[in-house]
Amino acid sequence: MCGIIGYIGNKEVVPILINGLKRLEYRGYDSAGICVLCKNKLQTLKKKGQIIELENELIGKEIVGTIGIAHTRWATHGEPNEINSHPHLDCKNKIAIIHNGIIENHFSLKKILEADGHKIISNTDSEIVAHLIEKFYNENLEEAVIKAIKYIEGTFGLAVICETEEKIIAVRRGSPLIIGIGDNEMFVSSDASAILEYTKKVIYINDNEIVTLTKNNYNVKNLDGNLVNSEVQEIKWNLNEIEKAGFKHFMLKEIYEQAKSIENTLRGRIRENKIKLSVDIDPKLINKIIITACGTSWHSALIGKYLIEKISGIETCVDYASEFRYRNPIIKNNDLLIAISQSGETADTLAAIRIAKNCKTLGIVNVVGSTIAREVDFGIYLHAGPEIGVASTKAFTCQVSALILFALHLRQELGLELDFGLINELILISGKINSILDKADKIQEISSHLKDAQNFLYLGRGINFPVALEGALKLKEISYIHAEGYPAAEMKHGPIALIDENMFVVFIVNRGEIFEKVVSNMQEVKARGGSIITITDCPDDEMIKKLSNFIISVPNTCEELSPLINVIPLQLMSYFVADAKGLNVDKPRNLAKSVTVE
Ligand code: AGP
Ligand code: GLU
Repeated sequence: MCGIIGYIGNKEVVPILINGLKRLEYRGYDSAGICVLCKNKLQTLKKKGQIIELENELIGKEIVGTIGIAHTRWATHGEPNEINSHPHLDCKNKIAIIHNGIIENHFSLKKILEADGHKIISNTDSEIVAHLIEKFYNENLEEAVIKAIKYIEGTFGLAVICETEEKIIAVRRGSPLIIGIGDNEMFVSSDASAILEYTKKVIYINDNEIVTLTKNNYNVKNLDGNLVNSEVQEIKWNLNEIEKAGFKHFMLKEIYEQAKSIENTLRGRIRENKIKLSVDIDPKLINKIIITACGTSWHSALIGKYLIEKISGIETCVDYASEFRYRNPIIKNNDLLIAISQSGETADTLAAIRIAKNCKTLGIVNVVGSTIAREVDFGIYLHAGPEIGVASTKAFTCQVSALILFALHLRQELGLELDFGLINELILISGKINSILDKADKIQEISSHLKDAQNFLYLGRGINFPVALEGALKLKEISYIHAEGYPAAEMKHGPIALIDENMFVVFIVNRGEIFEKVVSNMQEVKARGGSIITITDCPDDEMIKKLSNFIISVPNTCEELSPLINVIPLQLMSYFVADAKGLNVDKPRNLAKSVTVE
């Protein structure tokens, strides 16, 4: 999620806020805004687009003051525009809030507040916080905030100011917040990069702690109002390290974010043993599902076919958007077209949904308010947060997670019983992903033997054939080593001619009914001198040990979720190989993060 900065002290606050927002730009955002306590009035300015546009808008405006808050938004609810930008205010413009995170029960709270006479003017989830605080405000802002957040379900990093009190209140649950301690000045921010140039003395706020900042004091309390003894720490990182949260590249940071980003995709969508998706489609009326996408998103689309057909029984086909758009495809009125796109701006995918004029369309998109998100009939946002690295990682696993939810949703709406074993495993999958990430050093060691390879084959079967394709794409696009993904059984129809002692072959092999089949494919490769890297949940199997040059063990999970597990070592392997080659991992040659041209 995005950026927060607040200041209270003796200096002019606007330059500090704007500078802080600029330090937060690296996180990606779609809009920004500030609110300043100026002559006992709250002055607010918000803009869609770049911070420079907000800065230009400030020219000539008399917004002076020494207390203020500012926000860069990465929209999750409500498209990016001025009114949905933060800060959000209460009905009387006397309380201003900025929010990072997702308010899951915003819809029900909005109804209660509107019934209470509140006028909610944006269609974000965040604005209801300002009105909730207003509802409880009685000359004590800290108290009103504590009362308000008791009603909130979801995640927040919040900073709040009001006209009548010279203080900033900050509170967190699930979204980061730190306090910066200066000389007769205090800062609050979502990350240290925004305040590092002013102070290195910080306090990392924990969940369910609330902070009150005045010019020359701070106090940290728990939600019972008791003071908490917080440790003041010294920031050791430089700015560049902070932007990547200490990771060498954004791609590595995003690989490590996947446990959290999958949780964000699932957040609020599995409740009271039901799948909750606002997709108003009756599966009984669907003739067939067509999924269209490009690149990594096309790989998750292929996985989506397996999931939807296995879980809901609805016929599903997959097409490259670039092919689909020119093929005069047969689209029936009761077909459903699903477009998958991280950016929501890929030209071919956008063109594909535009030719599907006679059927309903569903977008599985990360960037809220993107063109594809605005043009489809229904949407499932990933809530993965900004993906900065050109090579897509967390978006892929969040797309697969969203497809699992959608397949379960279809099954539920067909009146079929849900598989709660699968659902519980999905809820736990983040822990299993983290267990792989904890062994990254082993994968890095294996990768060090691969960096001079010229050719790779990636082989998988069934739902893991698209994972083989994805692993090959990851390696290709950031290490520039040629790699091809194939169904493992396809070897004997040609590719096996390529196998010799110079060929590295990555096998994905999980326990299950096709385990022996894949092992026999491994034997074919071994017999011809190929070097085998095995991704498996059966590392102790005698044949696996005998045939593999390198084994990367992964935790076992059900077949439907195995792509979420098996892709992690492939992402790490491609990263470590590319990094060992000294390449620009985050911005590989010839590639753009979003291909908005044909
Ligand atoms: C994946 O690592 C690549 N960056 C690329 O294949 C990407 O998945 C493709 O361009 C589709 O982008 P989209 O998901 O934003 O539509
Ligand atoms: N969910 C809020 C919104 O969509 C906050 C998003 C963010 O963290 O930037 O406005």
